[in-house]
Amino acid sequence: MKGILFLTFVSVAFACDAWPNGTEKAYTWWSSCGGPVQYYSAKITDLNGKEEYPIRLTEPIVVTVDADNQGKAYDEPNLRATVNLWSWVVNSCGWTAVPTLGLLSDLDACEEGVPCPVKTGRQTLPLTMDFTKFDSIIKLLKDDQPYQIQLQLNDKLSGDKTCVTAQARCRTK
Ligand SMILES: *[C@@H]1O[C@H](CO)[C@@H](O)[C@H](O)[C@H]1NC(C)=O
Repeated sequence: MKGILFLTFVSVAFACDAWPNGTEKAYTWWSSCGGPVQYYSAKITDLNGKEEYPIRLTEPIVVTVDADNQGKAYDEPNLRATVNLWSWVVNSCGWTAVPTLGLLSDLDACEEGVPCPVKTGRQTLPLTMDFTKFDSIIKLLKDDQPYQIQLQLNDKLSGDKTCVTAQARCRTK
């Protein structure tokens, strides 16, 4: 009897969550690479400001952040954006990078959804991420699964960098 209870406990403790960090019900986010921008909140909506969950990557999404830019004013063409994407693998219980073939790296941030110039100080910044342009990548992804998305902004002039990572249940079809 004791043995059976022990085994049950072990299998529960080692079971991998199909929805890491509670992504089944809600997204999580955090600031992920240091830098001079401090984030207080982030809200993910569609272009009309509507909050929907799961998040649909088949339409542009807007990540509206309340942020304090303690660095410099950033503008094009120096402000670059890179988007990294991971899918969740239950078997290995970890995130695995989705190869984006360089399509999502070193983009002109100001032309790809960042309202420029980004001034200094505390502000509300709507960051638009339009994956529909990259539907060759998105349509290969399994539908209704947890994904981790990182938006990396780096300023070539100052070397400043800021990142936001979000984990969310996403629709890809
Ligand atoms: C869950 O979220 C935290 C940040 O809140 C992060 O550090 C951690 O890596 C996440 N766990 C997984 C499995 O992604």
